[in-house]
Parts: sequence; C-alpha cells; structure tokens
Amino acid sequence: MLLLGIETSCDETAVAVVADGRRVLSNVIGSQVELHARYGGIVPEVASRQHLLSMVPVYRSALRDAGIAPQELHGIAVTAGPGLAGALLVGVNFAKGVALGLGLPLFGVNHLEGHIHAAWLEEGVDPAEEPGLPLVCLLASGGHTELVLMRGHGDYEHLGRTRDDAAGEAFDKAARVLGLGFPGGPAIQQLATEASDPTRLPRAWLGDSLEFSFSGVKTALLRAAQSVSPPGPAAPQGHEGLSTAEAANFAAGFQEAVVDVLVGKTVEAARRHGARGILLGGGVAANTMLRERMRERSPVPVIMPRPALCTDNGAMPAASAYFSLQRGVPPSLDVDAVPNLRLA
Ligand code: KG4
Ligand code: ZN
Repeated sequence: MLLLGIETSCDETAVAVVADGRRVLSNVIGSQVELHARYGGIVPEVASRQHLLSMVPVYRSALRDAGIAPQELHGIAVTAGPGLAGALLVGVNFAKGVALGLGLPLFGVNHLEGHIHAAWLEEGVDPAEEPGLPLVCLLASGGHTELVLMRGHGDYEHLGRTRDDAAGEAFDKAARVLGLGFPGGPAIQQLATEASDPTRLPRAWLGDSLEFSFSGVKTALLRAAQSVSPPGPAAPQGHEGLSTAEAANFAAGFQEAVVDVLVGKTVEAARRHGARGILLGGGVAANTMLRERMRERSPVPVIMPRPALCTDNGAMPAASAYFSLQRGVPPSLDVDAVPNLRLA
C-alpha cells in the first residue's frame, strides 16, 4: 500500500511516499527556514507564496526519490488543519488535483494526528505489536502544546493544552532574546551544551491542572538577560550583549524549565489516566533533553519518532491515512482547509 503524504500547514512544503504506513520510501522537505529567518518568525503570506512555488518540484522529487510512477500510488493524504489558512490551502488544493487526476482516494488528516502517527514510522512502533492502550500523547510544536489521551486510532480525548505560548514558540522567542537564529529550539539545545551553571528560571505548574503556560518563563528569561546586559546595541558575540558563557547558562536554564514542566505534566497525566505508554510528537519532541528526561521519569514505556520525523514532514499524514484506511474511514474529495481543526 503506497500512500503519498502532503504537508503544508506551516513553513515546510513536504511530500513523502510511505509504504504500509511504516516504510518511508521518500521524504522531501522544501524548507522555508532561511526565508523566514530574516523576519525572526513565520510570515503567513510569505509562507503561502513559497508553498505555491515549491509544491510541484517537491512532489516530483518525492516520486523520483521513491523510484515510483504516480500510477503506482494507492492513495493521497494531505494535512487539512490546524495550521495557516493560506498555507493549508496550497497543499489541500494540490492534493485534490492529484487525487482527481489519478482517480485515487483522498484523505484529509489532522496535523496533530499526523504527529502522533509519526511514532509508527520506520523503526517506531510495529503495527503488528501495537503498544498497550490508552496512550498519553504529548504533542509539542511551534503552534501547539497538548496532552491527548489516545484510546485507539481515531479515538482521542483532550486532557490539556497551553493557555498562552506553545512550547516551540517559547523556544523560538527565548532564542530571539538570546540573539540566536530561527527556529529557536535546535539553537537553544545546541548552545545549552556549553552551559557551566544553568540559570534557575521559574516553572508554571498551574496547580494540579494538566494545562501549560510558557509565557512566564519567557518573560523571566528576558528580565534575567536584561539584568546582565541592559538593552542596547548587540555585542560582537552576537548574544544581544551577553557573553557566550552567559547566554549558554540562560539557554540551559530555559530548556530545563520547559522540559521539567512538559515531563512532569505528561507523567502525571499518564498516572491519572492509567496510560500503558507515553507518546511524544511535534517539533519539540526532537529535543534531546526532553526525550531523555521523559524516558528517565516515565513509569511506562515511551514511544517517539526519530528526531527528523518529529518536525513537520509529509510522511506523517501518510501514516495517519494508512490507519484511517485500515479502519474503513471513507475517503473524500471534499477535504477543506480548516485552520483551527481540533483533534478532540
Ligand atoms: O512540529 P513543528 O515542525 O511545526 C509545527 O507544527 O509548529 O515544530 C516546530 C517547532 C519550532 O518551534 C522549533 O523551535 C521546535 O519545534 N523545535 C525544537 C527542537 N527542534 C524543533 N524545540 C526544542 N528542541 C529541539 N531540538
Ligand atoms: Zn507540526
């Protein structure tokens, strides 16, 4: 079963060919990182235009890399939401055209469900040996931080989400405070390895709720950085007037604060809901410290995609559509782009 997956919900034009919901035959990502880096964040209008330019070349590369002709595909999967309206529309309309032209079934996929099913790709969970259910899923990306109880494929219950910034968004904003590049997560993770004495920053636990808040720790970082280096022209080191050693300690302290809360709440959710496992997904799940701490502190097995499949890619909607097909969800050419699509 060969499925083509198309993902354009944010700033990556991504197309992949996936066999049997598991083997990634090709995974092409037309990244817009450099384009948006000069603005310090994603500009929606710029993203849609770039998707238009990249869509066809990325599609052709994905087929070429997989070594297949379009006629060999069995279906098309596309991210229908949540995401940026204009960006989603490019992928959805292109997917409809391909499905119609080739006479193939089309599946609209929730981006967050795609992040969940990325954990089944490649050396991830073997569909023949499904992990025990329910699973508590932590989905942490640039736009979302959600805890979801997964009782089965397509069966999700919302447990909690962020009240303000998403975890990835907080990493991106913290990176800006420290004068690092975009996206901020990988830059903070890298700089944190040079820390000698990580700065202690506050954690927002919000009582015993399963909700998150990351705006406080971001503001605390800004204040701490400004107390060392008052606003003014950036120093030659490029860390907004901070020495590399100071910036590294701030980066490490920030990463620890965010990871601590993500792990603490996910483990608590797993305990409260009798989860048989914890699943990580979304760009922030590529974070090495989050992956290690979750494994150390979880009382149940932790499953997660390899880091390159945590960030947005075309293989994830294809993996989700495979499970939709398995349980007889009907395909439809009436897929709409829904910017605020909910998982549960
Ligand atoms: O899932 P994703 O690729 O796109 C969205 O759906 O938003 O997530 C991108 C987010 C960015 O905010 C980026 O800074 C963050 O994931 N990210 C990381 C790491 N790699 C990517 N955050 C922390 N550590 C990382 N290694
Ligand atoms: Zn994502």
